[in-house]
Amino acid sequence: MNILIVYAHPDPQSLNSALKDYAVQHLQAAGHAVQVSDLYAMRWKPTLEAGETAGPDVLREQEKLLWADTVIFQFPLWWFSMPAIMKGWVERVYTYGFGYGVGEHSDQRWGNRYGEGTLAGKRAMLMVTAGGWEPHYSLRGINGPMEDVLFPIQHGMLYYPGMEVLPPFLIYRTSRMDEGRFDQVSEALGQRLDTLESTAPIPFRRQNHGDYDIPALTLKEHILPGRSGLEIHVQSAA
Ligand SMILES: Cc1cc2nc3c(=O)[nH]c(=O)nc-3n(C[C@H](O)[C@H](O)[C@H](O)COP(=O)(O)O)c2cc1C
Repeated sequence: MNILIVYAHPDPQSLNSALKDYAVQHLQAAGHAVQVSDLYAMRWKPTLEAGETAGPDVLREQEKLLWADTVIFQFPLWWFSMPAIMKGWVERVYTYGFGYGVGEHSDQRWGNRYGEGTLAGKRAMLMVTAGGWEPHYSLRGINGPMEDVLFPIQHGMLYYPGMEVLPPFLIYRTSRMDEGRFDQVSEALGQRLDTLESTAPIPFRRQNHGDYDIPALTLKEHILPGRSGLEIHVQSAA
């Protein structure tokens, strides 16, 4: 497979850097072709300017996305989201006609997005480290469930332009990282990387396949009646 890792961390001595190096080596050893967009090392310009059109830096990243079968976004959780430099990568690389504004609108469809679009057929996975503890991000945890924290990224940035989204690889409580735990974590990561092709994606509902009223784009009344919240957009929600 062709695998692109979009990576955001400023410190080559960090946990994230060590995990990124491990991932690259592991994937290459398994015979995959790997490219890394190391956003800090590339001095990626994160701000989208008024009237900006796709320049060479943006076109290069779009080519990498088109080349990739699987895209891994790796970052430390900073203020409940991705570091600003990576948000700026999404803002600039997802240009009109590439990341959004794809496909026609009709009574049956609202363009190509949420499961359809330029990046359809590809897989994506988040690889995220967090200082907080796992229970802090559990269903009743004070930070809110991690799947809700990551929903704008997984649903809004990965699924939106068409990619299938694999369950994230998460590392909590990063201050508690000694050599023994790093070995455990990297082994678990290796297993996830070995199963990128076979892991079932999160079953987000497709926009144009009957679950939503168009053009309101609300979930049809007979599906999960009376329910709301982010989880209704995942098919397994009971
Ligand atoms: C600016 C900043 C914001 C952070 N925000 C969060 C946060 O919202 N939630 C959390 O669990 N940890 C947060 N952390 C902790 C980082 O997630 C943690 O330090 C990082 O994942 C450790 O990996 P590293 O050693 O590769 O940086 C934050 C750290 C920094 C520097």
